[in-house]
Amino acid sequence: MDRLKGQHALITGAASGFGAGIARAFASEGASIVLADLNVDGVRKVADELAAQGCEAYAVSVDVGDASSLKAAVAEAEERMSGLSVLVANAGIGQRPGDFSKTDEALIEHQFKINALGPYLSCQAALPALRRHGEGASILITVSGIALVPRPGLYGYGMAKSAAGYLMKSLALELAPERIRVNGLFPAVGDTAMLQEFAGGKRDEATDMKFAEALPLGRLITPEDVGAAAVYLSSPKEAAVMTGCAMPVDAGRCI
Ligand SMILES: NC(=O)c1ccc[n+]([C@@H]2O[C@H](COP(=O)([O-])OP(=O)(O)OC[C@H]3O[C@@H](n4cnc5c(N)ncnc54)[C@H](O)[C@@H]3O)[C@@H](O)[C@H]2O)c1
Repeated sequence: MDRLKGQHALITGAASGFGAGIARAFASEGASIVLADLNVDGVRKVADELAAQGCEAYAVSVDVGDASSLKAAVAEAEERMSGLSVLVANAGIGQRPGDFSKTDEALIEHQFKINALGPYLSCQAALPALRRHGEGASILITVSGIALVPRPGLYGYGMAKSAAGYLMKSLALELAPERIRVNGLFPAVGDTAMLQEFAGGKRDEATDMKFAEALPLGRLITPEDVGAAAVYLSSPKEAAVMTGCAMPVDAGRCI
């Protein structure tokens, strides 16, 4: 119940899917939360739901591709919660699969802007506030299993997520002397809105089944699965020595 009591978290991409799942799990473990997303109405809805349950939860607008928007979101989070101890850089975009020869430069650039530069800018904006919190602060980046075990057809997404994985590990080394931990969640195919993109734009029961059957445990990853892993890695007590950890949340996909 109180595994994150006293923690002040900023979660990007919290309007839906894994980010909303992480916010709900953090709320149930006693954290105060600022939920940030491009989708302002969506993120307000989740924040209102958590506030109605007694959690200290606020919604802010953010575009993770924009440094000044991130700085403003971090400043608001730090002010509202009187500090920031956890950044969850979770916001991201999916991609429809396509052959290498049909993957154009604009797609690759946009993928890098949101899925690689996004976490980079999020960490850079949050770091001064995390340093003010000091020892015990942490960063969690939602990467993807594709950065551990590649699959064909997702060049922009896979390349950008691999860069986010590199960021996670190198920042973990740099911040270790300050006792600030940096970890990554590497989920497999999730039961979220993004799955429609990975399914080529059309999602139905048959496509879900196909994705699920490709995973050793035979089911899709849920926001609750990701929320549970995020609570563990963000707990300064339970995960005190966990840093630079690329944690698969993947029903066995990356074995
Ligand atoms: N669903 C999967 O199969 C899967 C697998 C591995 C990793 N991931 C990663 O998990 C994270 C969450 O994805 P999800 O599956 O919950 O998808 P989702 O589409 O449900 O949620 C993504 C959220 O990010 C927000 N967002 C997108 N661009 C943004 C921007 N520029 N600024 C701020 N917010 C923005 C969206 O509005 C949305 O609320 C992403 O980083 C994604 O790449 C997803």
